[in-house]
Amino acid sequence: MNTQILNELIFNPTDKDFLYNPYPFYRCLRCEDPIHYSSLGFWLVTRHKDIEDVLRNKFFGKNFGAVLEKQLNTKIADEPALKMINLQVLMSNPPAHTRLRKLIMTAFVSSSIKKLQPMIEETANMLIDRVEAEGSMDIMKNYAERLPLMVICKMLGIDAEADMDFFVSRIPSRLLDLKPVSREELDEINQDVIELSAYIKKLCDERRVSPKDDLITHMVHAREDGDILSDDELVANIMLTLGAGYETTTSLISNALLLLFRHKESLEQIKADPSLTANAIEEALRYEPPVQIAARTALEDTSIDGQVIKKGETVILVLSSANRDEEVYSNPDIFDIYRENIRPISFGGGAHLCLGAQLSRVESAIAINTILKRLPHLSLDDVEQPNWSLQFTRRILNNLIAHW
Ligand code: HEM
Repeated sequence: MNTQILNELIFNPTDKDFLYNPYPFYRCLRCEDPIHYSSLGFWLVTRHKDIEDVLRNKFFGKNFGAVLEKQLNTKIADEPALKMINLQVLMSNPPAHTRLRKLIMTAFVSSSIKKLQPMIEETANMLIDRVEAEGSMDIMKNYAERLPLMVICKMLGIDAEADMDFFVSRIPSRLLDLKPVSREELDEINQDVIELSAYIKKLCDERRVSPKDDLITHMVHAREDGDILSDDELVANIMLTLGAGYETTTSLISNALLLLFRHKESLEQIKADPSLTANAIEEALRYEPPVQIAARTALEDTSIDGQVIKKGETVILVLSSANRDEEVYSNPDIFDIYRENIRPISFGGGAHLCLGAQLSRVESAIAINTILKRLPHLSLDDVEQPNWSLQFTRRILNNLIAHW
């Protein structure tokens, strides 16, 4: 690679222009340096085929707790937030991962999505009823966030309206940012996790005595070959489901709406034929994926397409770049609701493939079709200059103001 290109390819995850539109930089990386070593101390992997390889390579895994232990010079056992995160299916490696995933899957299967559809439609309509007379709203606050929150709460069996503020403010998502937390921040997160754990533990105890048809009950009673989830595993994975179950879907609903309003012809086609929405959601997942990256650590010395990766090194898999890989998609920078065979890597892949993918697809399609039907004169402000929350790991809007 020549020096000029090398200078252009300096990865700076705090640069505002990059965060506003990261895709041109990833296109350069795919072309010039697809397995790029950043001076920040990790590898950035941007090609679809390399990302697929890493997701299926058993020498790459999760090492989240140990990385934070080192960064913060502490011990997992002394930090309630790290102890809890280490018990989550998302953060574990086989064989622990295989066992946890089997038990959690049993509970998810019992909460059939088909059964949930009327409740999702009812909730979407109720949210529109609340704002219809006002003539305007921030879609993020009043709809795209509320709907998945209420749905995941109803699914788990949590009283959304009464307890929402309590648990939303305590979900420890800040721990997953690329920027390490400070000692003071970790102290606050520990406190939040202690309070949220007590709240979830109480719900589990109640469901053990009086079972209901909800996900917490299914998780409490999940059994595989005589094995069950321990109390701490239950709390950790219910907390994960709460967090994973709404922020990402919020982003999918709002990103898809924004894209449709930027492509008026597609919008009119969907209004005329709502059966097109499912494919439009796949295309929105590909084009603006809510979760932009997945991280892995080399558990042994290994390689990606011939590039040696040493044991302990971290690789950042840029899912949003794989979705625009010209080796897989023709005209990848064009948003096309009729695109065929879209297989976005936006839900990850391999052992950790997202457990909520189908739920969020169904929920987002209902959200889009309901708002377009109920508010036929809907218009969005700032479609050409959207107010992106400038984060490297997630693609989400700060707000999305609408009038009708
Ligand atoms: C648009 C919405 C969503 C997106 C983009 C998304 C994305 C992802 C991604 C990329 C992963 C894999 C992370 C990795 O490999 O490190 C993942 C895992 C996971 N997701 Fe989702 N997710 C979404 C919705 C949901 C929902 C609604 C739920 C639950 C109700 C959920 C639960 C999970 C769980 C439990 C895992 C961990 C699976 C494992 O480690 O075996 N997700 N998700």
